[in-house]
Amino acid sequence: FFPFLFLWILFKMWIIFLYFVIFLNVASGQIRYSIPEEMKKGSLIGNVAQDLGLDLKRLRSGRARILTGESPQYADLRTDKGILVVNERMDREQLCGDVTPCSFSFEIILENPIELHRVIIEILDINDHSPAFKSRNIFLEISEIAAVGSRFDLENADDPDVAINTLQNYLLTSNDNFVLKQHSKADGSKFAQMILQKPLDRETNPHLSLKLIAVDGGTPQRSGTVNIDITVIDANDNAPMFKQSVYRATVIENAPIGTYITTVNASDADAGSYGLVAYYFSNLKGGLADIFNIDSASGKITTTGNLDYEKLKKYEFRVGAKDQDGLNDGSNIIIEVIDVNDNAPVINVMSFSSPVSEDAPTGTTIAVINVKDSDSEKNGQITCSIDTNLPFKIQSSLTNYYNLLSDVVFDRETTSEYNVTITATDSGSPPLSSATTLRLFISDVNDNAPIFTKKSYSAHVVENNVPGVSIFTVRARDVDWNQNARVSYLLEDTQVSGSPASTHVSINSETGVLYAARSFDYEQIKALQLVVQAQDGGSPPLSSNVSVRILIQDQNDNAPQVLYPVQTGGSLVAEMVPRSVDVGYLVTKVVAVDVDSGQNAWLSYKLQKVTDRALFEVGLQNGEIRTIRQVTDKDAVKQRLTVIVEDNGQPSRSATVIVNVAVADSFPEVLSEFTDFTHDKEYNDNLTFYLVLALAVVSFLFITCLVVIISVKIYRWRQSRILYHSSLPVIPYYPPRYSDTLGTGTLQHVYNYEVCRTTDSRKSDCKVGNAGSQNVLIMDPSSTGTMQRIQSEKSILDEPDSPLEVSSIRCGCT
Ligand SMILES: *[C@@H]1O[C@H](CO)[C@@H](O)[C@H](O)[C@H]1NC(C)=O
Ligand SMILES: *[C@@H]1O[C@H](CO)[C@@H](O)[C@H](O)[C@H]1NC(C)=O
Repeated sequence: FFPFLFLWILFKMWIIFLYFVIFLNVASGQIRYSIPEEMKKGSLIGNVAQDLGLDLKRLRSGRARILTGESPQYADLRTDKGILVVNERMDREQLCGDVTPCSFSFEIILENPIELHRVIIEILDINDHSPAFKSRNIFLEISEIAAVGSRFDLENADDPDVAINTLQNYLLTSNDNFVLKQHSKADGSKFAQMILQKPLDRETNPHLSLKLIAVDGGTPQRSGTVNIDITVIDANDNAPMFKQSVYRATVIENAPIGTYITTVNASDADAGSYGLVAYYFSNLKGGLADIFNIDSASGKITTTGNLDYEKLKKYEFRVGAKDQDGLNDGSNIIIEVIDVNDNAPVINVMSFSSPVSEDAPTGTTIAVINVKDSDSEKNGQITCSIDTNLPFKIQSSLTNYYNLLSDVVFDRETTSEYNVTITATDSGSPPLSSATTLRLFISDVNDNAPIFTKKSYSAHVVENNVPGVSIFTVRARDVDWNQNARVSYLLEDTQVSGSPASTHVSINSETGVLYAARSFDYEQIKALQLVVQAQDGGSPPLSSNVSVRILIQDQNDNAPQVLYPVQTGGSLVAEMVPRSVDVGYLVTKVVAVDVDSGQNAWLSYKLQKVTDRALFEVGLQNGEIRTIRQVTDKDAVKQRLTVIVEDNGQPSRSATVIVNVAVADSFPEVLSEFTDFTHDKEYNDNLTFYLVLALAVVSFLFITCLVVIISVKIYRWRQSRILYHSSLPVIPYYPPRYSDTLGTGTLQHVYNYEVCRTTDSRKSDCKVGNAGSQNVLIMDPSSTGTMQRIQSEKSILDEPDSPLEVSSIRCGCT
């Protein structure tokens, strides 16, 4: 340690020695001052007099002055004070530039004796300059994809000061992306580089504004600044991005083509063409491409086809967006179709029974209906209705099924068919509806009996009518249909005055025309009480009865009959009138009756022929014969009065009676008078003729009958022999019971009685022939079996609308 200390002390002593050598030398010849630059004029540099060891007198006497060949003169010598002051501002940078140390020198000269002293002034640097950049701004364009570590040279700053006062350091305002690195050039100047330490992103920071600060080391420290404007240049480093991961939209069905749905939007953070996005549908299922369209530029989705809610309620697909380099993104689109009430309900008649019987009970199911509506929710909710006036109700059974039920018991006779219009309406707004009409027929049931047009009938028929004449027509109506309404008429089997009604009248079962079955005789039957039944063709048939009263009208078909005086053939009756009787004496009374009735039986009496008209009169009403004058002797004994009795009918019928009156006082007188006039010659002649005629006829009939009987006997004998040989039983024949088989009974259509049968042999002798071509023999019972006339059938049946065919009946005696 000590050797080192010794050496260090030696070194120090050496330096002190050197210092003294230099300063003793200056004091003897030159002086040296150090002053900072930029001192004010007049500032003291140094006390020259003192430093040179000169007094002020010597300075004055020696006329000390500064010798200088250069200008300006920086220093000035004040001889009065012996000091050196600043004459001119001294700028070290100007005087020396980078050279250091910076000094200048001049001489001070003294005269008497001439002395020359050199003064060296060293100018010390002060920090009077800031580091300065040439430009205020640095513009840089850096791509955002510039790699980390990229270097960017920066402009350097200048500071004319020297040493510590010159540029020392660069600083960069704080930022994330760059760091600063300083370098020294060969000449010692410093410059800076920015190094990218974190990638730029144009999208977050398209511009960076930094400051580069250059600082020196002076006190106070000075600095200079330059702005670094960095523009980040875009690169296609961002994919488009959809704003939403799902886009939802709704659209009504049946929207017209071109309807706007929604707009998708993807943003690309890149700028310019790197940021242009094209939209497209990705993985669109077949068919959807016909329905939707996306505008590739704007992302607007519109319809290009028809949307039908009933086919598809929801569309889900993906939409993509890509930029020009194919960077892309996708998003989901969900489009819900809103139902529109565009489908009317559809009515299907599943079953329908028509016709339905009119006796179907209330609540019978007539039809089953199914309704459908393709719309949904309210638009598809259907209500069914029918006209409330109709006797039906509609009931919902299963979902969408309705039953049409009857609400009354039908009556075909009032309403035979119904048009039931079923209307199905949905609940949309506005609602849609559809209707279907069922034409329901009501089938007939035989529930109505025939009804006669009147409660009872009465008719008149004039006696002596032609058999078969139509009397009148009963009519019954049946409101049922067809067979159930087909009315046929029957005559009830009642007794009319002891014989069946059918022997009096017949009825056409179809037309209801009543025919007289015989000629009526008012004198026998005055009225017929019948019951006609009308029956329909239903099953079972229904019927109703009506009473028919046929009144037979009298005809003047009977002449009056004289009961008294009795007209005998041969004997003679006479009334005795004594001659002495007074005027008005009742001779006799003609008594007559008429079986007719009414006017037809109202008799009047008149004298027709009379011997002496002045003697008798007959009472017009009572038939009393009275004398009207005194009988005299001149009056003949034998008086013969012919009284005519007339009824009041139209035409009237009459009978005459001869009344013999004997005007005498005694019986013998009468006898003698009357003998001759009993045998009337004319009367006898006639009688003789009739007797001969009768004899001839009887003889002829007898012979004829004899021949006939013999022939028949022979015939039968032969027949019996044949029957005997053919072992058949002998069928006995009975005599006919009826000889007057008139056309009685109800004859319907052509009823042929083939009566020659063995089962009812009592009638077997009556043969009923077909009426088609025969003449009819009609026997009038009123004319006591006399054959009255033979009339052509045609003339009887000439009445129109009479389909009745009267069979002719021939009866043969066997
Ligand atoms: C029912 O409709 C038909 C035709 O559609 C018509 O001929 C008939 O008269 C109608 N019936 C009723 C009772 O209205
Ligand atoms: C009609 O009369 C017949 C016999 O007289 C009787 O059996 C029948 O019941 C009656 N019909 C009616 C509907 O009164």
